[in-house]
Amino acid sequence: MISTLLSRLQHGPDGDPTPRLAYGADYNPEQWPREVWAEDVRLMREAGVNIVSVGIFSWARIQPAPDEWDFAWLDEIMDLLHAGGIGVDLATATASPPPWLTTAHPEILPVTASGETLWPGARQHWRPTSPVFREHALRLVRAMAERYADHPALVAWHVSNELGCHNVYDYSDDAARAFRVWLRARYSTLDALNHAWGTAFWSQRYSDWEQILPPRLAASHPNPTQQLDFKRYSSDALKEYLRAERDVLRELTPDVPVTTNFMVMGGTKGMNYADWAAEIDFVSNDHYVVPGPQDRDELSFSANLVSGISAGRPWFLMEHSTSAVNWQPINVAKRPGELARDSLVHVAHGADAVCFFQWRQSAAGAEKYHSAMVPHAGPDSELFRAVTALGSTLRTLAPVAGTEREPARVGIVFDWESWWASEQDSHPTSRLDYRQEALDWYSALLALGVRADVVTAQAELDRYDLLIAPVLHMVPTALAKDLTRYVEQGGHLVTTYFSGVVDENDHVWLGGYPGALRELLGIRVEEFGPLLDGDAVELDLDGAPTGSLWTDRITVTDLDVDVLGRYRSGAHTGLPAVTRRTVGRGSAAYVSTRLGADGLAGLLPRLLTPAGVTSELPDAARGDVELTVRRGSGARYLFLVNRTDAPVPLAGLDGELLIGRKDADGALVLPPRDVAVLRQPDRGRRGSNRCRNGG
Ligand code: GAL
Repeated sequence: MISTLLSRLQHGPDGDPTPRLAYGADYNPEQWPREVWAEDVRLMREAGVNIVSVGIFSWARIQPAPDEWDFAWLDEIMDLLHAGGIGVDLATATASPPPWLTTAHPEILPVTASGETLWPGARQHWRPTSPVFREHALRLVRAMAERYADHPALVAWHVSNELGCHNVYDYSDDAARAFRVWLRARYSTLDALNHAWGTAFWSQRYSDWEQILPPRLAASHPNPTQQLDFKRYSSDALKEYLRAERDVLRELTPDVPVTTNFMVMGGTKGMNYADWAAEIDFVSNDHYVVPGPQDRDELSFSANLVSGISAGRPWFLMEHSTSAVNWQPINVAKRPGELARDSLVHVAHGADAVCFFQWRQSAAGAEKYHSAMVPHAGPDSELFRAVTALGSTLRTLAPVAGTEREPARVGIVFDWESWWASEQDSHPTSRLDYRQEALDWYSALLALGVRADVVTAQAELDRYDLLIAPVLHMVPTALAKDLTRYVEQGGHLVTTYFSGVVDENDHVWLGGYPGALRELLGIRVEEFGPLLDGDAVELDLDGAPTGSLWTDRITVTDLDVDVLGRYRSGAHTGLPAVTRRTVGRGSAAYVSTRLGADGLAGLLPRLLTPAGVTSELPDAARGDVELTVRRGSGARYLFLVNRTDAPVPLAGLDGELLIGRKDADGALVLPPRDVAVLRQPDRGRRGSNRCRNGG
């Protein structure tokens, strides 16, 4: 459906009908006097902007009182943008309820686990399950859709904004009621719930549904399955709200695609986006870089995961920043080149749109120090020149629009259920970081120049030659069977410590760890060996000398298991640390300690070789360059991103250079933080050789 949107953008500011990538920002004209609006449209055209998201925080302006509506200013903006050839991704404007609503109905305000009300004064102060909020919000959605259904500027609907950013966990009485409804649908009977929650423990048995509450602040650790179900319910409650807005839009404007902006980034984990994606017409994502040692890899990882959620189809980068944000402890400006490089990494992973928060930097309000496309300094600025240059680069990349990602041969499984379950309290260690572990594997593959897809557990896993499932903690019977079949049919599976341990109810698989995966891996662990902060164990493992965080006392139970490395110090000295069981043409490997990105890069060659996976990059570029491939309409597009701050020569790749530079001898060279895109004719099927194996 993103193609519908792009086709509506065909007649851009210059009237050129070629399909193109979308480029733009959140646009908040209500913060500015009318004189600025015409100047905005002029500058948008100059920058190559062809889409803006309007109305995201406009509720109080559109509906100043319960029965008073003011659309005149928005009509004018929509007309102005249309006259400028700029499409509108129109928000439903429900993200932040106006003061009249919260004053009349304080019962829509969210409540924390400890019973504190989140008061108005910021934004998103509403309960996902409040019937009162929903009634008012859907009335607004209806009014917006009725008003703008036929407006020629309208190209897409933007439901609310970052659903769950501040209000995913609401512990109010509304939430308690909705949680009970959700639980009844899941379990049908109280007996089933009592079993799933293990309520024989600590005298928690329920004899009436009305006794059940959200996991509010308690004297000690709340019931783990109650906590897990509350996470599932909270994600579902917001998804249900998304559907309610979407249904109004589909009823009134069936031909206009609907999206909502996800937040696949950093530690945002409350919303199971793998499960939400089917509800919208195209996936959108917001991403902000948090400076740190793996920040570039994290950007790529997130974009890659968005592509996985979108099943490889193109998606929409709804927000990122031109430079600094305002919400980190220290807000660092981007360095020259980073604005374009960051944007193009998203495009490399399937974004057909590059948008920013926001168009014009606010003069007032909590985000006045957040960068924008037009900074406080105005258009006569390095930043606006970089914005305009990016607009022209995206223009050059127009042929990429609509192409899909070419599957890699390695898949990293990212599973929300395991993320939620593995990081719960009352565990062997509170230091486990699910996303970090997955990111470390990703960084290690990047360091070797090996392309990998980050995919959800629901993806078509069979297509990958090597499947890495770090901390796959929650393994229900069906998943265990799927993974076993995958290996038996020639696939190569790698998993790690704390995997296979529990079922979907968070009950431990008995008989020894790694529980559901024990037989497949051919090992048995009787007791976990988490390490204290700062402790490490030495390993007899080439390229991976130390482990931290976790250890396992492994007994090998199958004759086909090879020990790839052993502990050289600590409680398990001499025992296996990394194992691999050969199963026909496939294998199942287990890494029992945290090796970190460098250690994993040291280990990986021994896991890649049996799967027959090698780098597609020239030797000299491996590690310094990230390669991503999009494919469609008879061509492959190789995106080559310089991961370093030094120039990287890049000889040996052929193709037509769409963007990038060559040196005096005609050889491709990547300046620091730069990106090149090569177009090659698509000579047929590539990617996984599992089909070639007959697997
Ligand atoms: C997003 C949000 C935007 C803006 C931005 C700042 O979370 O959707 O409205 O606040 O962050 O980085």
